[in-house]
Amino acid sequence: MKKRVFSGIQPTGEIHIGRYLGAIRHWVAMQDNYDNIICVVDLHAITVPQDPRLLKHRIKEFAGLLLAVGIDPARTILFVQSHVHEHSELAWILNCFIPMGWMSRMTQYKEKAAKQKEQVSVGLFDYPSLMAADILLYDTDVVPVGDDQKQHVELARDAAQRFNNIYGEIFTLPEPMIADVGARIMGLDDPTRKMSGSEEGPNHAIALLDGPDVIRAKIMRATTDSLKEIRFDESRPGIYNLLTIYHAITGEKKQAIEAKFEGKGYSDFKKALAEAVVEGLRLIQERYKQITSEKGYLDKVLAEGAAKATPIAQKTLARVRKAVGLG
Ligand code: AMP
Ligand code: TRP
Repeated sequence: MKKRVFSGIQPTGEIHIGRYLGAIRHWVAMQDNYDNIICVVDLHAITVPQDPRLLKHRIKEFAGLLLAVGIDPARTILFVQSHVHEHSELAWILNCFIPMGWMSRMTQYKEKAAKQKEQVSVGLFDYPSLMAADILLYDTDVVPVGDDQKQHVELARDAAQRFNNIYGEIFTLPEPMIADVGARIMGLDDPTRKMSGSEEGPNHAIALLDGPDVIRAKIMRATTDSLKEIRFDESRPGIYNLLTIYHAITGEKKQAIEAKFEGKGYSDFKKALAEAVVEGLRLIQERYKQITSEKGYLDKVLAEGAAKATPIAQKTLARVRKAVGLG
């Protein structure tokens, strides 16, 4: 029996190379050896305000991009979270078991709440409970995510354990899987902050759909330092981040990369990096065009995905309802 993998992505902002290198490309690679489920988490997206038309557009765009990077609907169940109602129901039940104190410790909540101030919704606070429901509904063994999500996956595991302690073996205990290369890609304009999709300046992130000239311009403007050496040195966050992107996108070894650029300047390295990224994204962009030009194809894939996910989720939820003594 293959192990079950579950992961999710919020359809907000753009899919940038941080999300791609830190998470999505691992989901693609895992299709061969795991039983994969990938979810576009639209209910998580509305924990902060969204423009309805843009959200609807992003859900389709994200699903299309996931297919374009190599998610294969024959091997991965790809679906939209709100199409499977069991997620909301299990999240509510988990709400009644997860202590407030656990939620209050979530660093992502604290960061997001600090930005939003008094506009913070209950949903944003409760976000990890819905994420735990996503994971636990599918008897998930492994959750591949970037390192910012590790704490949420651990909370899901703790919630499962707490529930099992009361009711017996209802949930499988999930584990986070954090890749060592690309787990934290930083902003090009500010290498001390994680590359993120929202509310950032024009030179912060490279989107998967950025054209070649945009990619080149962003990389040439990326913040580095006034030193010269091109080395994987974590104390120099700008050049370290660019090298990490080069390493992740080409698959070349760190030492080989350092040797290749020995004695060269930042500008030579940046040019080479830009071409590597342009080339890496070219195929993805071609496939995306193809996928979205086929009318009805994406809707069909997502409907089939939800149809496959639903019976799995229903089975778990039935177990939970029975254990708790509901209706
Ligand atoms: P999100 O953008 O929050 O929906 O994240 C989707 C996935 O990409 C999660 O597993 C994140 O941990 C991962 N991710 C997002 N931004 C980055 C980044 N800058 N570096 C590495 N991984 C990231
Ligand atoms: N919170 C995750 C993120 O922002 C997205 C997500 C929602 C997720 N549900 C999930 C990831 C379940 C893994 C498993 O990246």
